[in-house]
Amino acid sequence: MKNPFKYGCVVSGDSFCERPELERKLVDFIRSGQNVVIQGERRMGKTSLVRETIARMRGISLVYIDLLGVCDPADLCIRIAEALAESGKTLPFYKKLGKMLSKLRPTVSIDTDSGMPVFSLDKAAASSAGSVEAILSAVAQEAKNRRLCVVFDEFQDILGMMEGTRTMAVMRGKIQLDSSTPYIFLGSVRNKMTDIFWNPDSPFYHSAASLPVGEIPEDDFYQFAASKFKTGGKILSKDVFEEIFVAAQRIPGYVQELCDTIWDCTDRGAKIGAKELEDGLQGVFAREKEHYELFMDRLTPIQRKVAKALAVYGGKGVYSGAFLMNAGALNIGTMRRSITKLMAENLIYRHNDEYKFFNPFFAQWLKSKAGK
Ligand SMILES: Nc1ncnc2c1ncn2[C@@H]1O[C@H](COP(=O)(O)OP(=O)(O)OP(=O)(O)O)[C@@H](O)[C@H]1O
Ligand SMILES: [Mg+2]
Repeated sequence: MKNPFKYGCVVSGDSFCERPELERKLVDFIRSGQNVVIQGERRMGKTSLVRETIARMRGISLVYIDLLGVCDPADLCIRIAEALAESGKTLPFYKKLGKMLSKLRPTVSIDTDSGMPVFSLDKAAASSAGSVEAILSAVAQEAKNRRLCVVFDEFQDILGMMEGTRTMAVMRGKIQLDSSTPYIFLGSVRNKMTDIFWNPDSPFYHSAASLPVGEIPEDDFYQFAASKFKTGGKILSKDVFEEIFVAAQRIPGYVQELCDTIWDCTDRGAKIGAKELEDGLQGVFAREKEHYELFMDRLTPIQRKVAKALAVYGGKGVYSGAFLMNAGALNIGTMRRSITKLMAENLIYRHNDEYKFFNPFFAQWLKSKAGK
């Protein structure tokens, strides 16, 4: 029987654990043309939720734009144009889009392998002034013919692109005029998304309703995971799932990753218990060890000690005397610099008054190494 667990990708259909409450809220927002900002930690399931919800809605075409690493307005235009083309996907629509965007010198060709039409924009033309307005006007114009839902994923990356602030102002102006189309903004970098949507100086200030995506309720995820294990005749009890859930810091992507390795190290008919859980965790470490070691290579010996102390003692009260002592009798300045470095390396992030590891298995691997 094939391993039914999936991680590191967008999940849909059978691999998607239902999130009825979030889905219902999102459907209501989309139906009423309300713009929404969706925030949540990494691997919480933001992209899967949005894509699956829209795929299930009748009569809505998704225009999905991933802004990960977007570098300048031309790059942004090309990504939006390709996403708009993808949402229509027929030769007549591509030709129509070609006319709408004629100033940006689009080309429509046929891919010789797949026989499918391919739409592309000329990079130089896309760099011209007014190109972002032009492409967003094309989106608004098309929205008069078809019901569209426009999704910008990893939206916070817009802050880092060339002319980011000016472009955001242009986008905000155009989006505001297209009041019947729902625009959805997804982001995982909490402080940057907060800057965009809740800083009064930002063009996007208060421009969208908020829908936070947190953990999947434990009971729902248990039913989902137990039914997957059952396809291989494997039995998962509620108590053991609770341990998996905690080990994965309740983050869906890590819950699935641990279930995946537990599946691999168990036979048909197995009852999953403490030993299988430990084997699964060791399986994750074995697979990820090289990456973990690379993370550690980028740190100084003191920074490594701080990382280990965070893994062993948790991330609260890191400037207290007890914590400084546990981390190797450090002074506050050294601790502050180490924490800054661990954040810059994207190993930890701050949530309220606590520092947390992005990857719970890395934290557990560090813990298993403490004192060695
Ligand atoms: N509804 C769900 N049911 C089951 N597993 C899920 C669900 N949503 C997410 N996951 C798990 O989490 C992983 C990451 O999902 P997804 O890419 O949607 O999250 P994300 O929040 O967009 O992550 P990122 O911050 O990396 O963009 C999936 O590969 C899957 O293992
Ligand atoms: Mg995502």
